[in-house]
Amino acid sequence: GKSGYDHFMLKEIHEQPTSLRQCLSGRVDELAGHITVEELTDLETPRSVQFVACGTSYHAAMYAAALLRDGGIPATAYLASEYATANPPIPDDTLVVGITQSGETADTMSALRDANSRGAETLALTNVVGSSAARECDHVLYIRAGPEIGVAATKTFSSQLIGATLLVENLLEETADRELIGALRDLPSNVQAILDNSNAEAVVDDFLESNAFFFIGRGTHFPVALEGALKFKEITYEHAEGFAAGELKHGPLALVTEHTPVFAVVTGNGENAHKTISNIKEVEARDAPVVVVTDGQSDAARYADAVLEIPETHEQMAPLLANVQLQLVAYHMANRLGRSIDKPRNLAKSVTVE
Ligand code: F6R
Repeated sequence: GKSGYDHFMLKEIHEQPTSLRQCLSGRVDELAGHITVEELTDLETPRSVQFVACGTSYHAAMYAAALLRDGGIPATAYLASEYATANPPIPDDTLVVGITQSGETADTMSALRDANSRGAETLALTNVVGSSAARECDHVLYIRAGPEIGVAATKTFSSQLIGATLLVENLLEETADRELIGALRDLPSNVQAILDNSNAEAVVDDFLESNAFFFIGRGTHFPVALEGALKFKEITYEHAEGFAAGELKHGPLALVTEHTPVFAVVTGNGENAHKTISNIKEVEARDAPVVVVTDGQSDAARYADAVLEIPETHEQMAPLLANVQLQLVAYHMANRLGRSIDKPRNLAKSVTVE
């Protein structure tokens, strides 16, 4: 049942401290400073990695590919439905990773079969034990999020991001950074702090008459912006788009008015934050309401009409925390509009046609 929550989606959002703990359990040894996934001990470090995934899982794939590239391993995220036509060469020693919560998505399965038939080594990052993806692939990493009933993926997305971190730490042959291990330890309580203190419900109340909603982010916050918009459009039925913050001025800015709230994700106080703050000023100059999701390290909040706060953490964990605020934004907006949150129109939990 929904354990007292109005919707499965809200229940699942609130389950994240627990589902993340389950995902990490036995995989992070804080004393030794090791991250090891038992299922992956026979997985060798590949020369390059290709990710295939759809929808929310594709956003996790973008994040995972960015982490790998950061660690020096060439990696690309492909939309599974485009993989066959993109037809990327698969060099020797390439690992193809399917990210799929259900393990049954037809587009992802077909990309994985394609990769397998072309001789690639394959890995499934999935939530469902014994699923088609788990059976198709040479390796499997389970994200252990528990069953997700709401059609909108929430807790499985956050566990996919952590599954990606676990995978990447396993593939990079160096000892994990202590700060990352500390951030993983603090992750469930940081998510809990957001759930306990979020003002997302009050924030969306100002936007019930808005025409469209934009989400922007840079670097690993770009997939968070895309995911924020996807969740929002799925369950509110309002027009929402996610953009790389720097792309706004290359076209989408034409859509920005006082009727289009812009949600911007800004963490840290480095170059990425400063560039995103310039992009925020561009939308502010068009009178758009600005909501900043931030850890408060930069002065981004100064340019915002509303702020959704997240705890300060390792930069690799910030996208997950920011996404929790955006999950709540989508949920509360859909709830205020009286939408069918757990079963949005036209959508199915598991998409088994291509
Ligand atoms: C969005 C959503 C979908 C799925 C996509 C892939 O909330 O749930 O975009 O992420 O259909 O599903 P899986 O991960 O099962 O392959």
